[in-house]
Amino acid sequence: MVSLSNKRVLLGVTGGIAAYKSAEIIRRLQDSGATVRVVMTQAATEFITPLTLQALSGNPVHLDLLDPEAEAGMGHIELSRWADLILVAPATADFIAKLASGEADNLLQAICLASRSLLALAPAMNQGMWRNAATQQNIELLRTRGVHLFGPAEGEQACGDVGPGRMSEPDDIVELAAELFESGVLNNRTVVITAGPTREAIDPVRFISNHSSGKMGYALAEAAAEAGAETVLISGPVGLQAPDRVKLVKIISAQEMYETSLNEAQKCDLFIASAAVADYRPISVAAQKIKKSADTLAIELLKNPDIVSAVAKLEKRPFTVGFAAETQDIERHARDKLERKNLDMVIANDVSDSAIGFDSDDNAVLVVDPTGSETIPRTHKSILARQLIAKIAGLL
Ligand code: C5P
Repeated sequence: MVSLSNKRVLLGVTGGIAAYKSAEIIRRLQDSGATVRVVMTQAATEFITPLTLQALSGNPVHLDLLDPEAEAGMGHIELSRWADLILVAPATADFIAKLASGEADNLLQAICLASRSLLALAPAMNQGMWRNAATQQNIELLRTRGVHLFGPAEGEQACGDVGPGRMSEPDDIVELAAELFESGVLNNRTVVITAGPTREAIDPVRFISNHSSGKMGYALAEAAAEAGAETVLISGPVGLQAPDRVKLVKIISAQEMYETSLNEAQKCDLFIASAAVADYRPISVAAQKIKKSADTLAIELLKNPDIVSAVAKLEKRPFTVGFAAETQDIERHARDKLERKNLDMVIANDVSDSAIGFDSDDNAVLVVDPTGSETIPRTHKSILARQLIAKIAGLL
C-alpha cells in the first residue's frame, strides 16, 4: 500500500495535453493520505479548468505570481515552504527548460526556485522534444541538482507519434512520490560506501584508471542518508556533488581508499563497496614525467589490496556488501564472489549491456545473498539505490 500520510504535496500543472490526468493524480495522492494544493501555469488552464482541480483538491488553485490578494494569503514563498514535495505533472519541455535556467517569471517557477523541498517532475511532451539534446541536457542538469524525474513513459502520443515522452500513469507517479519518503529504516545506523574509480599514478602527470562514474555509489549514499543513516562516502575522483547530509572523504588511489575504508569500517554497521578499485598499480611511481623515447614502454604492476575482503575479515565486522560487474554467467560469478570474499550480499550487474551500468543513469541488478537471489529490473539508479537500501535494511 502506497503511503503519503501526513505529506503535503504541491502539485504543479503545466500546459500539455496530459494535464487532464492531473485530476486523477490529485485523487491518487489523496487516497495515499496526502494533502494537496495545486498551482497551474496560464497554459495549463487552457487544457483543464482551475475549478475542476480546486473541487478535487479542496483548496483554492494558485495561478498568479503578481496577484496582491493571493500573495497576501498564501504567497509563493509560503507555498514553497509548505510543501514536503513539489510534484510537477505534467512538466512540459518549456517548463523544464525554464527550471534548468533558474527563471522565475510565473508562480510555479518562482515556487520551485524558492523551495528547498523535494522536487519531482513527470515530463510530458512529444518524443522529438524529449529526445532533443536541449531537453536531455536540461534534464541532466536538473538531475545533478537533485530533482527527481518520474518517467516519461514510452508509447503512443496524443500527436500520433510513438516513443518516449508520454507522462507516466498517475498510479506510477504517486508510487514514486511515496518512495521518496521511504526513510527511517536506517535510523541510528552508520553506513560506509566506497564509490567511483581509483587512480594509480605512473608518474606525476599520468595514471591508470577506469570509466566508473560513481553514480551508483553516490545514489546509494543519498538513499542511505534519506533512510536516516549516518553516511560516509569514500570516493575516488568523479564529477558528482556529494548528496546532502553525507560525509564525503575524497581519495585518489586504491591504497588510500583501503586505508580510509578500514579505518571507517571499524565504526560502521553496513559497508557497501561500489567502487571500481583498480586491481593493480605501478610498482614504482616515476619521480619525474616519463619522457617518450623507445617504441615500447613496460610498466610493471603490483596487485592492490582487496578492500571489501579486508573489511569482511575484520573482527568486528559490518554487514558487508560487494558489487560484481559481469558479462556472462552473472549469478554463478556473483555467488562465487559472495563466498570467496566472505560477503553478506553481492549486487551484480551485466556490464555487457551499454544501457545499464558504468556511466549510465539506469541500472538493473541481480541481488545475491546466502539465502537466494532477486532480480531488480532496469530503473533509475536513484530509485534502485532506495530499493537496495530498503532490502539491506531489512536484513540488518
Ligand atoms: O574482484 P572484483 O573486482 O570483481 O570485485 C568487485 C567488488 O570488490 C566490488 O564490490 C569492489 O568495490 C570490491 N573491490 C575492492 N577492492 C579491490 C577490488 C574490488 O573492494 N581491490
